[in-house]
Amino acid sequence: MTASIPPPAGPEVLPILPLRNSVLFPASVVPVNVGRARSVRLIEESFGRDRPLIGVVAQKESDTEDPEFEDVHALGTVARVLKVIRLSSGNYSVVLQGVSRMRVVEPITRNPFMRARLERIHETPVRDTETDALATALREAARRLREVLPQQNREAGAALENIHDAGALADAVTSDLGIPTSAKQQILEILDVRDRLRRVLEIVSRQAQVHKVKKEISTMVQEEMSRSQREFLLRQQMKTIRKELGEADDDDEIETLRERLARAELPIDADKAARKQLQRMRAMSPHGAEYQVCRNYVEWLADLPWGKVTADRLDVNEAKRVLDEDHHGLDKIKRRIVEYIAVRRLKSDIRGPILCFVGPPGVGKTSLAKSIARATGRNFCRVALGGVQDEAEIRGHRRTYVGAYPGRFVVGMKQAGSRNPVMLLDEIDKLATDGRGDPGAALLEVLDPEQNNTFTDHYLEVALDLSGVLFIATANRKDTIPRPLLDRMELIELAGYTRDEKHHIAMDFLVPKQLREHGLTPDRLDFSGEAIDAMIDGYTREAGVRNLEQKVASVCRSVAVRLAEGEDVRQLSDAAHVREVLGAPRFERSVAEKLSSPGVATGLSWTPAGGELMFVEAQQMPGTGQLHLTGKVGDVMKESIAAAFSYIRVRSSDLGLPNDFLSKMDIHVHLPNAAMPKDGPSGGIAVFVALSSMLTKLKVRPDVGMTGEITLRGHVLPVTGIKEKCLAAHRAGLKHILVPKRNEPDLDDVPNEVKKDLEVHLISKMDEVLPLVLDLDSGPAGPAPERVSQPPPS
Ligand SMILES: Nc1ncnc2c1ncn2[C@@H]1O[C@H](COP(=O)(O)OP(=O)(O)OP(=O)(O)O)[C@@H](O)[C@H]1O
Ligand SMILES: [Mg+2]
Repeated sequence: MTASIPPPAGPEVLPILPLRNSVLFPASVVPVNVGRARSVRLIEESFGRDRPLIGVVAQKESDTEDPEFEDVHALGTVARVLKVIRLSSGNYSVVLQGVSRMRVVEPITRNPFMRARLERIHETPVRDTETDALATALREAARRLREVLPQQNREAGAALENIHDAGALADAVTSDLGIPTSAKQQILEILDVRDRLRRVLEIVSRQAQVHKVKKEISTMVQEEMSRSQREFLLRQQMKTIRKELGEADDDDEIETLRERLARAELPIDADKAARKQLQRMRAMSPHGAEYQVCRNYVEWLADLPWGKVTADRLDVNEAKRVLDEDHHGLDKIKRRIVEYIAVRRLKSDIRGPILCFVGPPGVGKTSLAKSIARATGRNFCRVALGGVQDEAEIRGHRRTYVGAYPGRFVVGMKQAGSRNPVMLLDEIDKLATDGRGDPGAALLEVLDPEQNNTFTDHYLEVALDLSGVLFIATANRKDTIPRPLLDRMELIELAGYTRDEKHHIAMDFLVPKQLREHGLTPDRLDFSGEAIDAMIDGYTREAGVRNLEQKVASVCRSVAVRLAEGEDVRQLSDAAHVREVLGAPRFERSVAEKLSSPGVATGLSWTPAGGELMFVEAQQMPGTGQLHLTGKVGDVMKESIAAAFSYIRVRSSDLGLPNDFLSKMDIHVHLPNAAMPKDGPSGGIAVFVALSSMLTKLKVRPDVGMTGEITLRGHVLPVTGIKEKCLAAHRAGLKHILVPKRNEPDLDDVPNEVKKDLEVHLISKMDEVLPLVLDLDSGPAGPAPERVSQPPPS
């Protein structure tokens, strides 16, 4: 296809066909679509003529719809119309053959299509060494390009070899290149053959480079794909084979871990950390220690509830119902809990204070927390803080330690299985503050809503979000809770239950629960009220119902055993049955026996286990006026005993004692139950009463309990734990209780059931005490009774 057809002499006038986005080169044959009105006219005009000539020019802008002479390049190509194929009406495919370059010299007409006078640009074939070399290089480059091109055009390839003219070669190569129309037009306009060859060579080489790299990349990707696919297939096969052979498989293990991780919805950095360990495991022997360490770690990561959230149920009425269903009484506390839930419902992002239930064992602290979880539809987990000394128990051990383990919060979260459980911080008052590190500080971080969304456990090393957790704490006493923790918590005190309440709790909750747990039904074992009362009075002495529940369980167990032995048991449990199962009662309701001689008084003390009776014994013996103390007495209590003693000496004459009554005797004050440490000032009154009783030889009334701090001047000061002490006095069957006058407001908290049986005497001066407590009929004849019954003004 060389430009070998001899050109007609002189200037020509030809129709001009604008091409929207292609350039026709001499020596190439290309089909173009013709659909624009004027172009169609042009083509139709040529019908009937044999291979007519036309001028072809490229548009400057491809989006010019109906171009004029200004819109097309002046340099174009003379072309022969080889063939016209009608595609549809007004739409043709026209095969053009480039003949030679030309320049539009003068527009002649614009309508119905453009016609112009033009001038052909003749190209005389150049043959010199440089041109030959360039042509060879271009041929070579074009061949290379074709090799890396995605689709090869073999025909064009063959054609290239047949083009001997260097300029035509450059044109033919350019015509096939996938470069923009403007770039092609530039080549068309290079009339110097060597320049054209150089330019085209440059473009072709660059294209070859680009396509080569492209091809390499895609080959790489393909290879990678097929490699991993093959690996996958092999693994599958291996799995099947191993399964057939019944072999557990370590690689399989890594695979399983990978699957577990994928399901665990890990945050990005945790996922990264886990995958890094998996990678390391691949290179390790599965029997090595290091491998196990890695595996444990990855398992922890996979087991944590990163993405699992339970839907909150914050329906206040439902919460009320659940709380009532689980617990008897506790109305005030339930109301506070419901309030708490209601506030969270209104403002779920505001975290209120952390609720902390304080009270003796077995009053339902733990079970209330569980109930809150149930009421709010959350999962529940418990973190035991009692005895935690080491910060690492909260924050975890670094993995570099042998046997390293995550801290309790991470363990708790795993147990909970959701990101927003109710987490019970049990026994927060028993957190040791003198151990290694500061567990309290770590706990503070956990409870701080500002920080706990990125809690970092030393073992996990990636942040765990605890901000969705609803924390609830429990404690037996508030005075040992570290102060900063205390500031973050709202204390809710549970003092203990009355006999009546215990009775109801047992009948309505403990018995059904224990029957269920022992696989019994009420027709197999029926607890009478009498049996329950017998257990409350004779076998337990506690503020809560923990022991009571154990006793009920013991009775259930004995029946369950009989049932298991084949007996058709139908047992009505009454007092006799209880005695039969549990043996003789361990407690009596009466304390009269202990107070059968002078010198013993019934004090009341507060302990973490609730209120308790505390007997004070005073004894005199020949001696030199010394005071001995025994019974694990703390410093504060020692001081109040000394104060009581001094007060007695001051008032000795009023008690009918000789002035020198101390010169020949020693006095010994003992507080039995020596294993139990006793401290605090509230025993002052009881010590005073015991001493007075001993010295006057008048017995103390056995149905009176007392509490109160005393001063040297004879005043009675208020004390703590009034409600617990009243409950204890009531539990022990006392009828009177002496309470400091200034504690009067605390009596509001004492249940009416207790106040009904227990007469409360409010006292402000020590002189009011003795007439109330000493049994005036019990002493030997003497002057004391009158003195005692009519206290002198102080
Ligand atoms: N008001 C109540 N109604 C029904 N059951 C109760 C009530 N109070 C306590 N119980 C039951 O008594 C048992 C002991 O309660 P729980 O374990 O919650 O005590 P606690 O206060 O957590 O004690 P500790 O301080 O020893 O942990 C549980 O079975 C609980 O369900
Ligand atoms: Mg508990």
